[in-house]
Parts: sequence; C-alpha cells; structure tokens
Amino acid sequence: MDSRAGRAKVIRRCHRMDEKLIKEMIELAIGQLKFAYAPYSDYKVGAVLRTKEGKFYTGCNIENAAFTPTNCAERTAFFKAVSEGERNFSAICIVGGKDGILDDYAYPCGVCRQVMMEFCDPDTFRIILASGREEYEVYTLKELLPGGFGPANLS
Ligand code: THU
Repeated sequence: MDSRAGRAKVIRRCHRMDEKLIKEMIELAIGQLKFAYAPYSDYKVGAVLRTKEGKFYTGCNIENAAFTPTNCAERTAFFKAVSEGERNFSAICIVGGKDGILDDYAYPCGVCRQVMMEFCDPDTFRIILASGREEYEVYTLKELLPGGFGPANLS
C-alpha cells in the first residue's frame, strides 16, 4: 500500500520557523545521503544540526558489520558538533529512506531523541522531517519525546 496515499502535498506543523531556513536545512540534509554508509539496511539517512549561532553540523548514518556500533545520522551530527565545543542547538533536519529514496518521513529513533534531550530544550528545539524538498513537518522535541528524562531531572 502506498503510505503517501491521501496525504496532502505539503504537510506542515510550523512552529514559527523561517521557511527559507527550513529549505536550506532540507538541502543540506539531502546532500548527506550520498555519504550514508548503509550496506546492511540500505536505509540511508542524512541530517543537519543547527546551532543557536547559526552554524551547521551535518551527519549521515554509519553502519557496522557487528551491527550494534551503527551510528544514526542525527547522532553523527550531534557528536561532531559537541566534540567541537558546541552545546546550544536550535534545530535538526532529518531525511531518509530505503536506497536513499525519500518517500516518507524518517522519524528519529528513541536513542537519538534521548541524545537530543541531553543538549536541547524540549520546548524550543525544532525537529524538521522532510520527505522531499517541498514536503516537511516541524515538531518540537517535546512533541516527539513527551515527558523526556534529561539533565534537569538530575539537578
Ligand atoms: N537510522 C538513522 O540514521 N537515524 C534514525 O533515527 C533511525 C535509523 C539509521 C540507522 C541504520 O543505519 C538505518 O537507519 C536502519 O535502521
């Protein structure tokens, strides 16, 4: 069955994000698909993380023959950024699909949502999911990880 059946061309949950910025981030995330190393699942994911200062950190998924060391695109972007001293993030854009074909939204896995929870304000951090250049949804982290456990719980 076509999972896109009945879906409107552009579905948006806009949390007052600039459309030009969203499109720029979608383009950067799509650009990462060519670097995805996914010989086992063939599911390619690209991501771009934006700091509050406006700097971008890209990421792709990196699989492994032992399977468990596989790193998701989102975490690749986060770990690149954090390893360079970044701690303040405003948004992430994620694209993905089998063989790198974007025909549905690639929602972040639970582990990646938890990594976002470590560094981002769940009320304001935006997660942009795109299934094409014109088709996207914008969520807050809180919407995708309600009741999330984070650093605040330990302070
Ligand atoms: N993957 C991501 O990169 N991000 C996610 O949030 C979900 C899953 C990757 C991991 C693996 O390489 C492939 O997609 C299939 O699970």
